[in-house]
Amino acid sequence: MSSGDSFYITTPIFYPSDVPHIGHGYTEVAADVLARWHRQAGDDTWMLTGTDEHGQKMLRTAAAGGMTPGEWADRLVEESWIPLLDTLDIANDDFIRTTQKRHEDGVQAFVSKLHDDGFIYTGEYEGYYCVGCEEYKQQSELVEGTGPFEGQLVCAIHSKPVELLQERNYFFRMSDFQERLLALYEERPDFVQPESARNEVVQFVKQGLSDLSISRSSFDWGIPIPWDEKHILYVWFDALLNYATAAGYGQDDENFTRRWPAVHIVGKDILRFHAVIWPAMLMAAGVEVPKHVFAHGWLLVGGEKMSKSKLTGIAPEQITEVFGSDAFRYYFLRAIAFGQDGSFSWEDLSARYQAELANGFGNLASRVVAMITRYFDGVVPAETAPTDADLAIRATVTKAAIDADAAMERFAPHEAIAAIWTIVDELNGYITEQEPWVLAKDEAQRERLGTVLYTAAEGLRALATLLSPVLPKATTTLWDALGAAPALGALAEQPLRDAGRWGQLAAGATVTKLAGLFPRIEDPTPAAAPARVTA
Ligand code: ME8
Ligand code: MG
Repeated sequence: MSSGDSFYITTPIFYPSDVPHIGHGYTEVAADVLARWHRQAGDDTWMLTGTDEHGQKMLRTAAAGGMTPGEWADRLVEESWIPLLDTLDIANDDFIRTTQKRHEDGVQAFVSKLHDDGFIYTGEYEGYYCVGCEEYKQQSELVEGTGPFEGQLVCAIHSKPVELLQERNYFFRMSDFQERLLALYEERPDFVQPESARNEVVQFVKQGLSDLSISRSSFDWGIPIPWDEKHILYVWFDALLNYATAAGYGQDDENFTRRWPAVHIVGKDILRFHAVIWPAMLMAAGVEVPKHVFAHGWLLVGGEKMSKSKLTGIAPEQITEVFGSDAFRYYFLRAIAFGQDGSFSWEDLSARYQAELANGFGNLASRVVAMITRYFDGVVPAETAPTDADLAIRATVTKAAIDADAAMERFAPHEAIAAIWTIVDELNGYITEQEPWVLAKDEAQRERLGTVLYTAAEGLRALATLLSPVLPKATTTLWDALGAAPALGALAEQPLRDAGRWGQLAAGATVTKLAGLFPRIEDPTPAAAPARVTA
């Protein structure tokens, strides 16, 4: 991607029926790292997240809590979902709530157009519905219940009984789009990623699509159907449109043209909504389909998806209070191959924190700064006559920057971080071999010592820039300690795709003492990690 391209990235909008857990945190962090990367590379970037507030799940949870759904959503959004962004250091550009007027207006404009153009008709719906999924279900998607639900059919995901609906509803002619969708997956193999998700979607659509019931009339917590206000719009039809309404669909054409089409990051649980229903809706409205739909895997607990409804969530603050937001961001993106499932464990988090962040990166940075302080009064020395070992570091930096950018382009942040980490590992080896503390004892080696410490400091300059999307706090501290800002400007302004170019840190810069970037943690495992998150 060349500099200046539009990069509009979204997370799902979450149900604020309960508080967030680390699964939601994982999606936020992944989208934020990709957004920060593109923003710092100079792309015209916009990151959207938000909340999905209509539907029966919200209505029922609120009622159980003795509130109206509007009050319930306000409380959870203000007390939990917006604070989550701060907890995880998310630099989103917008936050949409489906109860906002801008959204409701845009949604009504969209469905009116579909209605006017003949894509909506009335019909009789009879079938199963899972309120947990907010989804119509086929018999084949249900399983026999166990325990209290023995003898009933339950949703395979939520293990709770489904409901039998019989309603006169509005339908969207989704079946009209089967061939066009298959052609889309064929012509743009990277439309749905990763490959496993694409295969699943293609198989699903090949089996045939039915029309979709898009309205409900037995309750009223939703956006009214403009031409028949006894009906409200099906919550998923409403929710998917957030990506368009937030960018100005139907209201601010100039902004919509600037941002659209988007890149959607979602969990694999909601892949079909994004890769089948959503592009069909857009095709019907004559709007371009998204650039990509990327489905990431699940955080698992005991082999099952961590979830609000099964009360297996871990609150993000439990991790950030002990390890900090940078470590949260690093851990989930490094330890789990993006697109695959992963199991969270305190032991693994703690081991990686110690080995990779504290010992690998943090110690490297403080040692280099300390040696420049001790041997050169805190002034970054000039480099002279590079040896093969120095040139090897330069080559590592150049390659790491190219590989990391390519990995971010293919939605592989774990590979990008691994590529950048080659600089950490090589520099640690380099310092061990060059033994600057030995060179410092010999006045004849003064220039050589300067070159070694310049090489290390310039390597840290590249690391600060390349890691800033992942570790925004630690890299800002490092940038200050390197004294880089007077000559180079703020860290956030360093062009990412130029980070691999050698020689940017100016000799003569003044370093300042660097306290441990990743302090030692006395008791990494919370004594009583509560297994559930409560509202
Ligand atoms: O589905 N592992 O909202 P939701 C990884 N409102 N990610 C997880 C996760 C886990 N165990 N659990 C949840 C909805 N997530 C709809 C979306 S979009 C137009 C409407 C993340 O609150 C993941 O991103 O159930 C998943 O897709 C999303 O939360 C579901 O959030
Ligand atoms: Mg869900």
